[in-house]
Amino acid sequence: MTDDTSRPDEPAGDPPLSVYDVRAHDRTLAPRIAAAVERVIASGWFVLGSEGERFEAAWAEWLGGGEVVGVGSGTDALRLALTAGGVGPGDGVLTVPNTAVPTASAISAAGAEPHFVDVDPATGLIAIEKVEAALRPNTRAILPVHLHGRAAPMEPLVEIARRRGLLLVEDAAQAHGALTGGRPAGTWGDFGCFSFYPSKNLGAYGDGGAIWTSSPEAAAALRRLRNYGQSDRYVHDSIGLNSRLDEIQAAILGVKLPHLRAWNRRRAELARRYRALLRSLPLALPAEAPEGAHVFHLFAVRVSDREAVRARLSARGIATQVHYPIPIHLQRAYRHLGGRPGDFPAAEAWCAETLSLPFSPALAEADLARVAGALAEALAETQAGTPAETQAEAPADPRGDARRETRSRTRNRTRSGAPGGVHPGTETPAGRAEHPAPGRGDGLAPETEAS
Ligand SMILES: Cc1ncc(COP(=O)(O)O)c(C=O)c1O
Repeated sequence: MTDDTSRPDEPAGDPPLSVYDVRAHDRTLAPRIAAAVERVIASGWFVLGSEGERFEAAWAEWLGGGEVVGVGSGTDALRLALTAGGVGPGDGVLTVPNTAVPTASAISAAGAEPHFVDVDPATGLIAIEKVEAALRPNTRAILPVHLHGRAAPMEPLVEIARRRGLLLVEDAAQAHGALTGGRPAGTWGDFGCFSFYPSKNLGAYGDGGAIWTSSPEAAAALRRLRNYGQSDRYVHDSIGLNSRLDEIQAAILGVKLPHLRAWNRRRAELARRYRALLRSLPLALPAEAPEGAHVFHLFAVRVSDREAVRARLSARGIATQVHYPIPIHLQRAYRHLGGRPGDFPAAEAWCAETLSLPFSPALAEADLARVAGALAEALAETQAGTPAETQAEAPADPRGDARRETRSRTRNRTRSGAPGGVHPGTETPAGRAEHPAPGRGDGLAPETEAS
């Protein structure tokens, strides 16, 4: 299924800008990727071979050591990590409601139940101070999400997990290379789970995922679990899955990996540029993060009248996406858990206001300026206000009086509670209840968007 909402209308003039164009991103690597694919085809070995082993070793080294097990997707990485960690039926796993649905699907697929804890209103990451109160008698694991590419605060989570005897599984699907406490996201817990979906910071040309662990025994268990629970040829000691990172994807990832650091640096540079361009507008920018802590898988701002702003951007040929519009406790699939609007106000406000702008290392500064200009116009037309909870200090306006005027009007409206503001507990926008799996197309159209 294609997410048509991410496709901008076709304006006269500038070509449409998609949220993430996979083709533009690694165009220069095309000949080397084609050669790598050819090599695999010529070898006649497609599953569990030397390409996969080489990539697993390279990814482990890139992460600073430990073991890596390649699997079929990020969702499977989470599911298998939970299973290998002993989580199953009757267990609860604590995570955040404003993540991608697969975080919760993986918990369910492992036979457990997601429990939720609210997030820090500024960062959208797990609210450390709320974690202990959210633990239940059957909570067996904590599953923080490094959302949008920003590393969650892992040191305090490790401390809580150790003290409480809980498994710690990191969802690092969006955070390849994000650092916290000098260590990469995904290498703090018992398991770190990565997705290589095409639009990720490190993306394959299809599905793929990997699990990091420091434990050779856990890695061996994962290797069995991903391969029908097989311990020796046709000998099965546990019930497993078929979830392997195939040789073609591993070979492609092997070509791309040496470029990941440069791509992440470019993302950080473009994020700084966006900040400078957008700082005077009536919206909330991503919270400032220490150097290296955010690898900007997405550049998401927060606006109060999001759908109106999106429509106006689309009319100007600029696609946007929402990661993610419906908090998981309010998804129909999880209705049986009894979640209600207002249960997790910060996560709900986040889902109601977050707006992902076009962003990829392949964008030029002129693209960013075009988005910023269109956003300024869209905000002026809708008179959307900076979300009240996230209002940043207002720095000097480099973009002129008209925009300063807009900001002061909209701030006043927000303060006086005039329409246009989105408040915690507000139902998610109408018409998006049937939104498909986040950001997904069923094929890999050029407009394949960030997920
Ligand atoms: C936060 C998060 N967790 C898990 C996943 C699942 O990864 P995959 O799509 O590779 O199964 C994704 C990707 O969509 C994600 O963004």
